[in-house]
Amino acid sequence: MMKKKWWHGKTAYQIYPKSFYDSNGDGIGDIPGIIEKLDYLQELGIEILWISPVYVSPCADQGYDIADYYGIDPMFGTMEDMDRLLVEAKKRGIAILMDLVVNHCSDEHEWFQKALEDPDGEYGKYFYIEEMKDGKGPTNWRSYFGGEVWEPIPGTNKCYLHVFHKKQPDLNWENPKVRKEICKMVNWWLDKGLAGFRIDAIINIKKPEKFECYEADRDDGLCSMDEVLIHAKGVGEFLGELRDKAFAPHDALTIGEVFNVSDEEMKDFIGENGYFSSMFDFRETIEGKSVLGWYDCSIPTPDDYKKCCFESQAYSEGLGYLSNIIENHDEPRGVSHYLPKEAQNETGKKLLAAMYFMLKGLPFIYQGQELGMENNKNWSLDEIDDCSTMGEYQRCLDIGYSEADALAAVAHYSRDNARTPFQWDDSEHAGFTKGCPWLVVNGNYKDINAKDQTSRGDSVFAFYKELIGLRKNPKYAETIIYGKTEPVLVDESNIMAYFRRGEGQNLFVIGNFDHERRIVTVEELAVSWKEPVVLINNYEGARIENGTITLEPLQALVVAEN
Ligand code: GLC
Ligand code: CA
Repeated sequence: MMKKKWWHGKTAYQIYPKSFYDSNGDGIGDIPGIIEKLDYLQELGIEILWISPVYVSPCADQGYDIADYYGIDPMFGTMEDMDRLLVEAKKRGIAILMDLVVNHCSDEHEWFQKALEDPDGEYGKYFYIEEMKDGKGPTNWRSYFGGEVWEPIPGTNKCYLHVFHKKQPDLNWENPKVRKEICKMVNWWLDKGLAGFRIDAIINIKKPEKFECYEADRDDGLCSMDEVLIHAKGVGEFLGELRDKAFAPHDALTIGEVFNVSDEEMKDFIGENGYFSSMFDFRETIEGKSVLGWYDCSIPTPDDYKKCCFESQAYSEGLGYLSNIIENHDEPRGVSHYLPKEAQNETGKKLLAAMYFMLKGLPFIYQGQELGMENNKNWSLDEIDDCSTMGEYQRCLDIGYSEADALAAVAHYSRDNARTPFQWDDSEHAGFTKGCPWLVVNGNYKDINAKDQTSRGDSVFAFYKELIGLRKNPKYAETIIYGKTEPVLVDESNIMAYFRRGEGQNLFVIGNFDHERRIVTVEELAVSWKEPVVLINNYEGARIENGTITLEPLQALVVAEN
């Protein structure tokens, strides 16, 4: 039996501060804006908040390039605002997680500035600085955002490593001084009263022992970081140190952004005494991705989706507690990605909500997901801000796409889809700002906004509230939190169905992704369920008779055995 933790039964919410709520009219969301909206989050039932970076940053990668780990960027507010947020959140029973971004810092961080001044000096050793040969870096690795990972240092024959943007130099974790600095910083924030961290891009902190070239996987002669990471062994030593010297003494809640780790290694990450409390399940988001780039990706079908969910549930069972998402600030909007086109309506959105929310694990809601916010349908190139999208766009041009085709090819995956301002109401700029928003507002804000959704009992918002409420209901909580997930009807296309098996209690979850009515039979319901009680339903009525369930198009049900 898994050791119970205070956070297992909660619901978490991710805020992307720049786009959440602008309190002072400069077009950029900020910490006072978050404080103003805490009541809204409390009303929804949120008890854990992950806040994407608000540290000092030149924003080459929207705050994921940190120039001062101990400071709040003026565009987001002040340290007093941050302290006030901690106090106000606590009053409402909400724990705060910040983003821990320590694979890299900003090139404007003091450490890197000093490294540039004297690459052979003390701070040069905080980074990966290498000699160039024939104007080239030592390896053929491709950065996540496109292009080589090596950037020349002007006025020298040297270059530095950046696996993300060139304004995000990688910190050298082999250097004990770097680890000590990071540990000190993590402790400083935890001492302040943070509950913990979401941990960014953390698998990248370990590099292969030798800097070698690997087989190219595109015609640019470079190889992807996925390949590079296969050759990097021993990340656990660094992570164990961080756990022992910072996380564990504070009993911090830590959620890892963990890619590129095999199922077998999971236990080390989130098992008993793992490096982290939990990690995101990215199996669904990875499905359909291509090493060639976004233009070559395919969108998962509902059957792909359920397969991924069930695989993750199966391997994590008895091993650790995953964190479940349908989207975040790096992914398309879940409802635009996992739902077939004709299912992208309120009923379909509730269906997807119920399917992922009832899985075992800690559910995260990304801001706007609770309203059913969608991808932006009409991107023009000059509205795109995200560096990753621009890299993928360039890639399309490189292989001969026209500008229009290139934009069309990257629009669905653009990280800006999730980053458009939160839609608060139907007034100008969706009520996000009184000024000019830093990123275009989705054109559908008059139809999809919080003001409307919170006033209607049949809204997507109301449905999420019900799901969150059910998770806290003492009658079912134990099963929802700890019950084993057991898939059924796995070969029924477009039907996703599973039991949650608790101690002496069973729940049954079923959804129909089809645009037609479906009738399915689950023997167990007929044989041993006396009187099924419908707990969640995105329709008015439900038809369950002798184990035969009639599901309307896009209907979702959560049923208890009585
Ligand atoms: C993570 C973040 C992403 C960022 C990257 C580099 O994947 O979620 O937004 O660009 O790390 O920090
Ligand atoms: Ca602002």
